[in-house]
Amino acid sequence: MDNMIYELFLSCFPDLAMGQETFFKLLDAENCEIFTHYENGRPVGFSAVHNNCIRLICVEPEFRGKGIGGKLLRKSEEAIAAGGSDLAVLGGNDSGLFIGAVTPEEQWNDMHCKFFEDHGYKASDGCIEMRTELSGYSDDSIPAYPSDVTFGYCPENKRKELLEAVYKVDEYWLEYFELGSPVFTAERDGKIVGFCIIDLNADTIINTDGKNIGMIGCVGVIPEARRNGIGLAMVAKAMSDIKGKGCDEVFIHYTRLDWWYKKLGFRTFLYYWFGRKKLK
Ligand SMILES: CC(C)(COP(=O)(O)OP(=O)(O)OC[C@H]1O[C@@H](n2cnc3c(N)ncnc32)[C@H](O)[C@@H]1OP(=O)(O)O)[C@@H](O)C(=O)NCCC(=O)NCCS
Repeated sequence: MDNMIYELFLSCFPDLAMGQETFFKLLDAENCEIFTHYENGRPVGFSAVHNNCIRLICVEPEFRGKGIGGKLLRKSEEAIAAGGSDLAVLGGNDSGLFIGAVTPEEQWNDMHCKFFEDHGYKASDGCIEMRTELSGYSDDSIPAYPSDVTFGYCPENKRKELLEAVYKVDEYWLEYFELGSPVFTAERDGKIVGFCIIDLNADTIINTDGKNIGMIGCVGVIPEARRNGIGLAMVAKAMSDIKGKGCDEVFIHYTRLDWWYKKLGFRTFLYYWFGRKKLK
């Protein structure tokens, strides 16, 4: 069963060739209800449901267009309703794998996701995932930034000041800064003006065997210090730092700033549509 689900996942997402162990860990398969569809004794599709979230629905490419996805979706929704919820959510914020419905770029640009919309799902929002290789990376040619800005990891005795800066950028980010990951900062006149969370050897959807992935998240510059090149320079310096610590690639999770991260060489590789459906 495990192997079959993993193979089906790879047939649907060949560019995300994570190992089987990583796949099951990110899916949190132990806590998911799995529904499968067989054609002539062959497994060709499955869905995975966790509480009221449809974590994943996969139909092998050559079996698409025959209503199999619709059947799996119906079974998943029935399971969600039987569990006592009247709302089905695609992905889910707390998912380690997909946090929404993976959508083709053309549909995402107009905030559409045909398959799920045809089945009654609605969304008003989405995000993208970005990545870049570090092998040829160097921060030698980063755009200009004020010469009195310095970069480095946030020491423990500056935590209060750090949290004040985070609050100024996005109060809902405060909880992520309590998780204990190292924070890289930009300082001007001894004062924190920018920050980002660094996760080394992170378990992410771009993990493949033997690769170390670094994640840079919650990138912020306090409003009064913006548009000076500090944000880009800080991320560029953080990339150099994590390259030096053995990371092969950097993953930017949950963003919409493709035009900004592109300046540092990042490319978008996944488009999410945050769909949900009232079941009653
Ligand atoms: C995104 C953010 C970190 C950028 O920080 P910053 O220090 O202002 O960015 P920089 O000055 O380094 O940006 C440099 C480049 O981006 C451009 N830029 C930055 N903000 C821009 C804006 N709002 N509109 C247009 N261009 C902008 C600059 O013109 C410059 O372009 P150039 O290199 O072609 O001249 C900051 O705006 C922020 O904290 N936003 C809120 C938090 C957020 O959304 N973070 C991203 C989460 S993934």
